[in-house]
This record gives sequence, structure tokens and C-alpha cells, in this order.
Amino acid sequence: MRISDRSAIAPFYVMDVWKAAADRQRIHGDVLALAAGQPSTPAPQPVVAAAQKAIVEQVLGYTESTGILPLKETIADYYGRREGVDVDPSEVVITTGSSGAFTILFLAAFDVGDTVVMARPGYPAYRNVLQALGCRVHELACGPDERFQPTLAMLEELPVPPAGLIIASPANPTGTIIDPAEFAAIARWCAEHGVLLISDEIYHGISFGDLSQLCAWQASREAAVVGSVSKYFSMTGWRLGWMLVPSRYRDAVNRLASNLTVCPPAVSQYAAMAAFCDESLTELDGHVQRYRRNRDILLEGLGEQAISKFAPADGAFYLYADVSHLTSDSTAWCARVLAETGVAMAPGIDFDTSNGNRTIRLCFAGATATMHEALERLAPMLRDF
Ligand SMILES: Cc1ncc(COP(=O)(O)O)c(C=O)c1O
Repeated sequence: MRISDRSAIAPFYVMDVWKAAADRQRIHGDVLALAAGQPSTPAPQPVVAAAQKAIVEQVLGYTESTGILPLKETIADYYGRREGVDVDPSEVVITTGSSGAFTILFLAAFDVGDTVVMARPGYPAYRNVLQALGCRVHELACGPDERFQPTLAMLEELPVPPAGLIIASPANPTGTIIDPAEFAAIARWCAEHGVLLISDEIYHGISFGDLSQLCAWQASREAAVVGSVSKYFSMTGWRLGWMLVPSRYRDAVNRLASNLTVCPPAVSQYAAMAAFCDESLTELDGHVQRYRRNRDILLEGLGEQAISKFAPADGAFYLYADVSHLTSDSTAWCARVLAETGVAMAPGIDFDTSNGNRTIRLCFAGATATMHEALERLAPMLRDF
């Protein structure tokens, strides 16, 4: 029996680091986890209470394939309160993580051979899933001069408008936020040229500087907006996300959603309604304050050591660092750092297949004590360079 050609996509290399870190943790119990892109905290307390109640009181069978109405209403209301966007519950589609939203959107909007544009460095699953679906991926090399985000000028230089453009702001792995005016101009350009803008907003809520996080629907309702409870809401394993989709996609999305997953996890849907209440948001904003402290501690501490070239970490919980003066093989280098210090970091190769051998990503969503400890352990090693 043959294995499909379409499955020959790149793996998620960071999983190798996770495995090595898990092995070391089992043997030495001393791993500092700065590789995985997730909070170290559980879901907000009201969500935990709502989940317990749902398990006791609900049947928790299948739900409507695009999610339960009260959760759609809660999310629509949240957009009004927090993002300044008027959303109707019928425009919200609940999905199995934002990952589920991307698969549905890609299938609903793109055919085999269509070109979709994204930034490099960028979140690898977009590229890999699109390739598995037979789409062409055109990566825009976005460096420090562009603050690691696509620009309108780059799009205008394309020989023909692509079928789609994905923008993540704040971005993974860089944490950069796209300038709101530039983003609005890009959204309008996409609408005018029949390009589906997919705005990955799953890190909204986590920002540290002056740049505001524009919801794409503030600029164009032709865009698709993707959200998730994974990052700001500290609920990665609950596998719940959502998207706001223009009405022309609604039938296709409904057909795909019901066939692909039947429905998103029921217990997560009932529990997640409590994630948007004031008590939860206060708890979550407390995490964001800690992320800001952690970011500053690492920026200062690593800057005093041998690592000082970072992408501007405007939001999310990552530092993306240039380590070209230390190594030309950051995968091997991260493995060595893990073996010698117990500090787990992600090599850049997942995010940038051209230059990722000279970059690393650190996640600072852990405890502040972990950041201090990581700096202490890295110091002797970095001094040797
Ligand atoms: C930019 C970005 N988009 C999407 C995802 C997928 O998140 P989830 O499926 O947990 O919502 C991630 C996960 O790290 C991410 O960093």
C-alpha cells in the first residue's frame, strides 16, 4: 500500500525538541520549558468551574457542527466589547482549535494549484497544511526592515494577485504586531483584488507596546478572522477556536465543518463561555503582565550575555533571536543547550526554512522564576562564545 505524496510535508521540528526535553525531564527532572508555544497556567478559574458543572449536568453529545449558539453569542459580544467590531452570532463559526478553522477555511476558499502568500518567518502549519492540500505557498521574506510582517508594497510587486494572504499579528515566531494603518491598507488591497485575507488573531490580548492590535474586520469585512482560546485564554489543550467568515463562505464552511469533525469538543464549548467573563479576563490580564515582565527579564539578561538581536517582541510570548554569531545549525545548537543546561528552546527551522538555522525562538509564557533560572544556566555556556 502506498503513502500519499501529499503527506510528504515537513514535520513540526519543534516536536523533536519537546521529545528530547520530555526524555530529559523523566531522567533529570530539571527541564526549563521555553520551547513549547503555550502558557504554563491552567484555564481561568471560572472556566474550570463551568467545565466541572458541564460534566455533571450536561449530556455532552455532539453539538451543532459550527458550535453552540450561546458560545457564538458570547464571542460576538466579546468582539463588540474588546475589539470594537460589531459581530452577529451567525458570523461566528466555532472550530476545533484555530487549527481546525484554518483547515476548513483553506478547503472552503482555495483549490489545488491556488497560490497563498504568507510571511517568512511564519507559523509553519499554514505552509505545511496548504501544501498537503495541493496549494502553492509563496513566502514573502520579511526581515527587520519590514518588522517581520508583509507590506503593501510587497503585495503590489507580485506578478498576479494570489488567492489568499495569511497575516498573523501578533506573529509567531516573532511576536511583531503589524502597523494598523499598513494592515488596513493591505486589507483594502485584498478586498479590491479578490484576495482572501486570513487574519490569524489568536495572540490578540497579549501585547506590550504602543502598536494596537487591529481586528481585520475593522478594515474589511471581506477578510476571514481566526481566533482561539489557546493563547491569551490559556487553554491550548481544550482545542477550541473560532472564525468570523464573510457570508459567501458560510455554506461551504458548514458543509466542511460537519464532514471534517462533526462538531468541536462539547465540554470545551460549554466551559469556554466562562472564559469571556470579567473575572476570567482579569485573571488572564494578570498573565499578560507576567509575560511582559518575563520578556523584559530575558531581553535584558540575554542582551548582557551573547544574544542581543531580537525581532521586536510587541506581543504574543516569544523572543525570536538571531544566533548566527553562535551557530549555523541552530537545531544542533538547541540540542546541545538542552543537553548541557536543561533549557529547552526551539530552533528557527520550523518557521524559516531559508534562514532558520541561524535563529531560535524562546517562549516566555512560563513562571518568572523560570526566566531567571534559564538566564543563570545559559550564562556559563554563552560566556564561552
Ligand atoms: C500563529 C499561530 N496560529 C495558529 C496556531 C494553532 O493554535 P490552536 O490550534 O491551538 O488554536 C498557533 C499555535 O501555536 C500559532 O502560533
